[in-house]
Amino acid sequence: MERVAIITGTGIYQIPGVHLQSRVVSTPYGDALVQVGQGEEENLVFLTRHGPDHRTPPHKINYRANIKALKMLGVTRILATNAVGSINPVLPPGSLAVLSDFIDFTSGRQSTFFDGGSAGLAHTDMHDVYCPALRQALLAQAPAFGLSLVPEAVYVCTNGPRFETPAEIRMYGRLGADVVGMTGVPEAPLARELEMHYAAVAFSINWAAGVAGQAIEIDRQGLEALTPRLLDLFLQVLRLPLSADCPCTRSVMVMHPPQTGQGGDIL
Ligand code: HPA
Repeated sequence: MERVAIITGTGIYQIPGVHLQSRVVSTPYGDALVQVGQGEEENLVFLTRHGPDHRTPPHKINYRANIKALKMLGVTRILATNAVGSINPVLPPGSLAVLSDFIDFTSGRQSTFFDGGSAGLAHTDMHDVYCPALRQALLAQAPAFGLSLVPEAVYVCTNGPRFETPAEIRMYGRLGADVVGMTGVPEAPLARELEMHYAAVAFSINWAAGVAGQAIEIDRQGLEALTPRLLDLFLQVLRLPLSADCPCTRSVMVMHPPQTGQGGDIL
């Protein structure tokens, strides 16, 4: 069955109104815990990347198992949320932005399925890593849900779990980052490596370090107010067929194909 998925992080641990059943999916990279929709939403898979009780820190999330599990379940399209801090002053806390690109400052994460040897080797194009067709659909549908989405934002991913220093944030801003988070990478590029359509909406819950004030102040209430409408928007976009051309299924340049059973065999 062709399925669609919603991945959430900080602050979103269920989808109101959707009956879900937990399921552990064993992958070559470890187990992933997902929730599969029931009844009318049987083609929906829900994954909370920190786990249902938010115990897994950003640098310990098994991103490969999560993305591979979705692929094994037949997922072709993914919409994700990312809680972020705002670097760009035009995105104050409470803003929602459709991510358009990322900068990766993580370290020590298992960030590819193409690890060489029997896992094969491929280089994957990262132009438009966030699916342009899904991004367009999010922007087109948002007003019907009373949501205003900033159409583009560059996400810098840090390793966490500590927040950044003010000097780091000044540097990321100069490098072109608009928002900062800890979980967007390698999730997005891994989805592209498996040729899935992936888009993400960032919601700002604080000014990044040093941008305003002397300490990080998290605003969860703004997010809680927007969450039901954001999830309804996701469900609506995932019900529609992809309406524009996108590069998502033709970005992987294989140098050495993976051997069967090593994870890349489902490309
Ligand atoms: N920095 C990194 N990750 C975050 C932040 C931040 O300020 N806010 C929410 N996730």
